[in-house]
Parts: sequence; C-alpha cells; structure tokens
Amino acid sequence: MPSAIIIHGGIKEFENISGFEQDCQDSLRDIVGRGYEALITDGARAAVLAAVTALEDCELFNAGTGSRVQSDGEIRMSASLMDATNNRFSGVINIQYVKNPVLVAAELASEKNTVLAGYPATRYARGKGFRSHNPYTERRWLEHLEGRQGLAGTVGAVALDEQGRMFAATSTGGVGGEIPGRVSDSATVAGNYASTAAAISCTGAGEEIVNLGVAARITTRRLDGQTLEQSVRNTIREGMEFDYTFGLIAVDQAGSTIADQTRGQTLFASADARGVTVFGSL
Ligand code: GLY
Repeated sequence: MPSAIIIHGGIKEFENISGFEQDCQDSLRDIVGRGYEALITDGARAAVLAAVTALEDCELFNAGTGSRVQSDGEIRMSASLMDATNNRFSGVINIQYVKNPVLVAAELASEKNTVLAGYPATRYARGKGFRSHNPYTERRWLEHLEGRQGLAGTVGAVALDEQGRMFAATSTGGVGGEIPGRVSDSATVAGNYASTAAAISCTGAGEEIVNLGVAARITTRRLDGQTLEQSVRNTIREGMEFDYTFGLIAVDQAGSTIADQTRGQTLFASADARGVTVFGSL
C-alpha cells in the first residue's frame, strides 16, 4: 500500500509572510520530514499529530504559539482530528492557554462527547494534565494593536499509511480581530474531514468554508467515484463562483496528494516514497 502525508500553513497572500517566505518553506520541509518519519514508523495518526503539533509550536504559523488575537485581546484556539478508520471526529473550539490544542482534540477522541468549546474545553485539558501555556508572540500582539487582521493561516496535515488508515488534523488561531467567541471552520467537518476515500484539511475564510462544507463535500465526491483531482477541482470551482477565499490539502486512498485554492497560494509541503515537495519549489 502507498503512504503519503501533506501539510499546510495557510494561504501565502493572507499570512503576512513577506520576508518570511524562505523560513516558511524551510519549516514546512523540516516538519513534513518529521511527519513522514512518524508515518513510516507509527502510522497516519502519529504522523498528523506530529506534524500539527510542530506547526503549532512554530511561531511563523497561526496556530498554537503565534496564534492571532481576537478583538478583546484574548487568544482562543480551535483544533480537530478526524479518524477515518473509526469514522470519529473530535475537536476543541476556542480553547485557551494550552500549547497544543490538537493534542486535546486527540484526547477527546476516546470520550463519549468528542467536541468541547470555551472554558470547559480548557478545564477538560487541565484535568487531563495539559499545563498552562502562553501562546502570545510579539508579532501577533503588534498586529492586534495596529488593528491588522488576516484571512488565513490555519495549519493542517492529512496522511495515509501503509495499512490504509487515513487521518486529518487542523489547528487555528482564527482570523484575528474577530468577535470574541467566533467559531471557525477548523473544528468542524467543513474544515477537517476524512473518510475511507480521502482526507482533507482547509485554510482560509472559515465562514465561507462552512457555507460550502468544503472538506466533507470533497470526501463525498471521492466516495461517489470522482477522482481526487475532480473532487477538489469541482469544489474549488464552486467556491470561486461564490468569490470565496480558501485553500486545502487532500490525500486519497491511492496515495495521491493535492494542494489547491480559490486564490493565492496555499503554503504546503508533501512527502511520500518519491521524496518531498514544498510550495514554490515545483
Ligand atoms: N480557517 C480558519 C478560520 O477561519 O479561523
């Protein structure tokens, strides 16, 4: 069976990465390499969690440490994990002061109630031993003070392992400057979904991703017989008809990977037995 992983760090044009482009490429190359190692040794679940925790820890990206700041000065983060093997979605919405929201989402996968929001999500994390962590960075705080917002910057990873298991994981700090408590797409099946046919993680304007149900729509198309490329292209075309702004990464059960977007350039890196590909170096 083939195996592959693809990761993303948002859409270039909306991530204020001028001056950071090389750093983004280098970080994505390094992180996808670590994800691929985990994929080969420990499988798809370990791979997406290794990649997304590394992206959350990298201050360049808008998730975990380095998350954008909501209009009341608070950072609230959202993350999810979808396990196609057990058809199980878990996530946290607007959690605060944890280092790796995606690991809390992974912890919830074994609970009866798999999605938690707000303070109870933070309290749940503390109860499970997730220690308090300050995700603020100087760059994001300055953006907040200057009233600068972004449209994108979410991170994510999707992977297929040699046993045919597929997982999707996504994590975000939101768009910056939003109404406190806004819910993004990242911990919904619109922004992060996997079936036995394909796994998808989205980035971009969360409201628009939810309006179109992007990730679930693509996996349904793939299940119904379209190729991964057709499933993605048709969904991107529908997004463009609404003038929506989003990007995505996808992998299917054949090990094909795709990054695409309605506009701009999704910051992505992929790895399989043939090697590593990074945005901008095609
Ligand atoms: N896609 C991330 C967000 O809208 O918050």
